[in-house]
Amino acid sequence: MALNFVLMLGPVFLFVLLAFLLVRSWGWPKAMEEIPGNLGWPVIGETLSFISEFSSPAGICSFMINRQKRFGKVFKTSVLGRLMVFMTGSDAAKILLTGKDGMVSLNLFYTGKQVLGQSSLLQTNGEAHKRLRRLIGEPLSVDGLRKYFQFINNLAIETLDEWSGRTIFVLDEASTFTLKVIGNMIMSLEPKGEEQEKFRDNFKIISSCFSSLPLNIPGTAFYRGMKARKRMFEMLDLIIAKRRSGEIWQQDFLDSLIMKHNKAGRESDEEKLTDAQLKDNILTLLIAGHDTTTAALTWLIKFLGENPNVLEQLRIEHQQIQEKRKGENLTWADVNNLPYTAKVLSETLRRATILPWYSRKAAQDFEIGGYKIKKGWSVNLDVVSIHHDANVFPEPQKFDPSRFEVPLKPFSFLGFGSGPRMCPGINLAKLEISVFIHHLVCKYRWTSLEEGNDSVQPTLVRMPKNKYPVKVEPL
Ligand code: HEM
Repeated sequence: MALNFVLMLGPVFLFVLLAFLLVRSWGWPKAMEEIPGNLGWPVIGETLSFISEFSSPAGICSFMINRQKRFGKVFKTSVLGRLMVFMTGSDAAKILLTGKDGMVSLNLFYTGKQVLGQSSLLQTNGEAHKRLRRLIGEPLSVDGLRKYFQFINNLAIETLDEWSGRTIFVLDEASTFTLKVIGNMIMSLEPKGEEQEKFRDNFKIISSCFSSLPLNIPGTAFYRGMKARKRMFEMLDLIIAKRRSGEIWQQDFLDSLIMKHNKAGRESDEEKLTDAQLKDNILTLLIAGHDTTTAALTWLIKFLGENPNVLEQLRIEHQQIQEKRKGENLTWADVNNLPYTAKVLSETLRRATILPWYSRKAAQDFEIGGYKIKKGWSVNLDVVSIHHDANVFPEPQKFDPSRFEVPLKPFSFLGFGSGPRMCPGINLAKLEISVFIHHLVCKYRWTSLEEGNDSVQPTLVRMPKNKYPVKVEPL
């Protein structure tokens, strides 16, 4: 019965989707003619090529690189019924990321909008965006994170204790570690137990539907993702209710948001975050913070494995801390004074360019690089090319943290973005990665089990496809 219903709905849905795309494509503006590029087939545009290159070993970068070779640094395309202009270079970055005079707003695909919810930070603009940034910025500041240091340190030690003499997939381990950190930081979730398992299962389904096609019918990734989102929100409803009633009090991110609003005179009633806003933004932080940090940690360990000289220099920085502490544990002061580690992280974010392009929507007509952009168009900054510009980064494929010893030209390194949308999780990401790397390099050496495999997963956040399998041995 249910299957018949789905079979009946399938063609109807396809028809509606095609009709929608057809109507959209009729509206392709003449103004786009001056921009080089190809809008592809009527209706479907270049969607098929986009999807197939998304799943290729080089990931979505090959879509951008192939078109740049044919059309130059600025090109147009049409994907999933959306007109897109891609551009690159630090001048374009400055205009798009600083969003001068409200020229641009963030631009998510339909799936992302549905998953994150209407009141997500990623869907707000202007004053509402500034206010939300202020609220979440405080607990994510260096001072705000201090209270999570001990948890992160203990978790890194426990996680790595399990690695000795084993073959592990670094990506899986990094994913478990970063999810436990962010779950604990946001709502004091214990790292083990039934609640953690449920949280993890739902999160994984939601996160893997983020780059799926928006087909909300049984059997699709999007459908499963939306169901898991509902379960996750039910879990958050229970937690938020206990916090609001005062039944449970925790010193975590959630409480800091709720408490802030309880202080008399601090915020007016309309200014208080509703449960819906709290849930959308907790999910936003989980989604924005988990895959990115997991990918960064995995790439960093992979680059260290491939560059023994860099690993050696990094190890010296961390062993000096160990010697100074004479067997005592890492401290908060130590972790905030790791100059070489910071350069290794920056070089990792440059080389791997975890988020290959940043997408904006033109909020008004404007001109960029000699091209007229019309209100409503999707404008995308190709960050891979910026990070591999040989004029700024000679031998761009080489992994060389010393590049970050000298000040760089503005907008030439965008690992955490720039401007009003710059990553608010930068301090948390640096903290997690520095602590983990400290214990890793002081304790172990590792050998890759698959040399020279640089394929990436078909996801928005670029991660090694083979999850970087390694054999680990004590030093
Ligand atoms: C190494 C890890 C990370 C990297 C490389 C990274 C990278 C970025 C980048 C490049 C942007 C800007 C994108 C754009 O301009 O379109 C961004 C935004 C964002 N990041 Fe991160 N991120 C990381 C970790 C985190 C963490 C741990 C959190 C949360 C706890 C987080 C939360 C966010 C949020 C909420 C935004 C959107 C900000 C806004 O729209 O105002 N990120 N991130």
